[in-house]
Amino acid sequence: MSKTLERWGSKRAFILAVTGAAVGLGNIWRFPYVAGENGGAAFLLIYVAFVILLGIPVMMAEILIGRAGRRGPMQALGALAVEAGASRHWRWLGLFGAFTVFCILSFYSVVSGWSIEFLVASINGNFRGASAADIGAGFDAFLANPGLLVFNHTLFLLMTMVVVAAGVAKGLERLNNLLMPLLYGLLLLLAAYAATTSGFGTALSWLFLPSWEALTPSVVLHAMGHAFFTLAVGACALMAYGAYMPDEQSLPRAAMAVAVLDISVALLAGIAIFSVVFSQGMDPADGPGLMFVTLPIAFSELPWGSLWLSVFFLLLLLATWTSAINLAEPMVATLQGFGWRRSVSTAIVTFSVWSIGLLSALSFSTIVDFRPLLGRNVFELVSSIPPDIFLPLGGLLIAIFAAWVLPRGTAAAALGVGERGYLCWRHVVRWVSIPLTLMVLLSGLL
Ligand code: PHE
Repeated sequence: MSKTLERWGSKRAFILAVTGAAVGLGNIWRFPYVAGENGGAAFLLIYVAFVILLGIPVMMAEILIGRAGRRGPMQALGALAVEAGASRHWRWLGLFGAFTVFCILSFYSVVSGWSIEFLVASINGNFRGASAADIGAGFDAFLANPGLLVFNHTLFLLMTMVVVAAGVAKGLERLNNLLMPLLYGLLLLLAAYAATTSGFGTALSWLFLPSWEALTPSVVLHAMGHAFFTLAVGACALMAYGAYMPDEQSLPRAAMAVAVLDISVALLAGIAIFSVVFSQGMDPADGPGLMFVTLPIAFSELPWGSLWLSVFFLLLLLATWTSAINLAEPMVATLQGFGWRRSVSTAIVTFSVWSIGLLSALSFSTIVDFRPLLGRNVFELVSSIPPDIFLPLGGLLIAIFAAWVLPRGTAAAALGVGERGYLCWRHVVRWVSIPLTLMVLLSGLL
């Protein structure tokens, strides 16, 4: 495939596109429930530290590779490796990234399907006047309904793949422009409401005052995986977006802007959700249903609750949609790199993600007892191993490629910050990000 000449319309459009990829289920659904299961503040602190020490530098590495290569991930890695006199086999890193996003999208689409269901339910006013117990029971009943889960998973995946088939850059710019400010505004409102509830104080201390005995190697591994997941780093997905980055844009500034936005969305969601958890005497470690149960409870107590809740689920759905599009893009780009037409590549990706996604959708009912590994069912496996292990591993290799393999000139030019800035970035990646990722991966696995 030849180099792409297509570019995002503006610097802002690029930042919004990457933010669109980053902000999604990771912030609003996954952060609260993984933090809930891993001790709250200790997890939050470590995860923010990892965003700064690993997430941002490796995000820069990933995007700069895409920008220097200006092709799909596999082709960019292969071509740049050959130019640098290194092995062409680096291109398989692109394939590993595609495999990672394949696993992630298979459960992502299922959970995003839950948002569709909840959007419809809130428009219908189903949560009006419902007690916390009713809402919890309703969620469990929904999970136990394989037909509904499969239907929503199918719908969401089709929604995503239609945009991907049409080509990324064209589809996204305008949507992100509108969506991010709206979502942010609504979360601010929710957090302000949370401040009036009785659980607010407990939520704040639970989120921000760490008890260090909660800190185990497995918590640290989860926090690292989540840092990569929430920033959409480590799967060559952002590499695909870097290929469209305007020439004159500063990459570090863009990466930092995205990280700040991403963390603040998670914090707002966390404050809102845990205030409800503690006001209602719920358990923070309630698992994947946490957001889907707490937010309807919170909204049902607000005036115009059903309306707000519908708006919230609509925005959440749009946010997960932009992330899912980013998840699908590297797979389609990879297949296209093998010479398939875009329409055919999209169809193949859609069908395979859909089929594997069925296993996640059915993990709550039909095949709940099918536990192929570590005593976990398929949903539990694909929603933990690819984010916690594959993304950091991919990020590690991306960082090694950008900081050790790429020639100084190529990398510095693609980073777009001059010689001093480049050396500073490379220092951090070589001596902090790479060793730290390796250490946490090894200690978490052992
Ligand atoms: N960052 C996305 C989210 O938080 C998920 C994602 C992971 C997207 C990896 C792309 C690549 O929801």
